[in-house]
Amino acid sequence: MVVAIDGPAGAGKSSVARAVAAALGFTYLDSGAMYRCVGLAAFERGAEPAEVAGEVRIELGERILLDGRDVTDAIRTPEASEAASRAAADPVVRRALVTQQQRIVADGDWVAEGRDIGTVVAPDAAVKVFLTASPEERARRRAVQIGADVATVLAEQTIRDERDTTREHDPLAAADDAVALDTTGLSLEDVVARVTALVAEQRKS
Ligand code: DC
Repeated sequence: MVVAIDGPAGAGKSSVARAVAAALGFTYLDSGAMYRCVGLAAFERGAEPAEVAGEVRIELGERILLDGRDVTDAIRTPEASEAASRAAADPVVRRALVTQQQRIVADGDWVAEGRDIGTVVAPDAAVKVFLTASPEERARRRAVQIGADVATVLAEQTIRDERDTTREHDPLAAADDAVALDTTGLSLEDVVARVTALVAEQRKS
C-alpha cells in the first residue's frame, strides 16, 4: 500500500510522513531528498543536473548517502535547496528519479512524500493527501528548522514555490482524488490522526 503525501515546502510533509509511517509500521520515502542529492552533486561538480542524475548512487534511510558519502546535513543548506529546485525542473532528472521511486514503492507498504507522488509516481496510491499551510506559517516553520530569519526564508520560499508550481514538467499540484488538509494551526498529532484515519477507512473499504 502507498500513502502519498504531497504539498509545498514547509507544509509539514516530512514530519507528518515520518510520524504516519512510524504509526502504521510503513517505510518512509523522502523523494525530495533524491532531488536534493542530484542538485548537490551538480552544484559540487559544476555539472548539469541531467548529467549527474543517472550517475549518482543515492541511499535513503536514517542517514542519506550520496555515492557513499553522508550528505544528510549538506542537502539541507539554502544552496542545496536552490540547486534541488533547479534539478527538479529538469525533465531528464525527473524521469530518472521517478523511475527509481516507482521501483522503490512497488513492494511493501510506503508513506511517500513529495510533490508528484499522487499524480505521477504512484497515481494508484490507496490514500492521497495534499498538505498545505499559509505561506507565512510555512516560512516560520522552516526558519525555526534551519535557524534563519523568517523574512529571508519567506522570500526564497516564494521564488521556489513559483518555480515548483509553474514548471512545465510535473508541477506541484494536488491529484484530483487527493484529500486536501490545511495544517495551519494544527498540531502534528492532529494531522497524523487525520491521515491514519484515512488509511483505516481505506482498509475497511
Ligand atoms: O521536499 P523538499 O523541499 O526536500 O524537495 C526538494 C526540491 O525537490 C523542491 O524544490 C521540490 C522538488 N521535489 C519535486 O519536484 N518532486 C518531488 N517528488 C519532491 C521534491
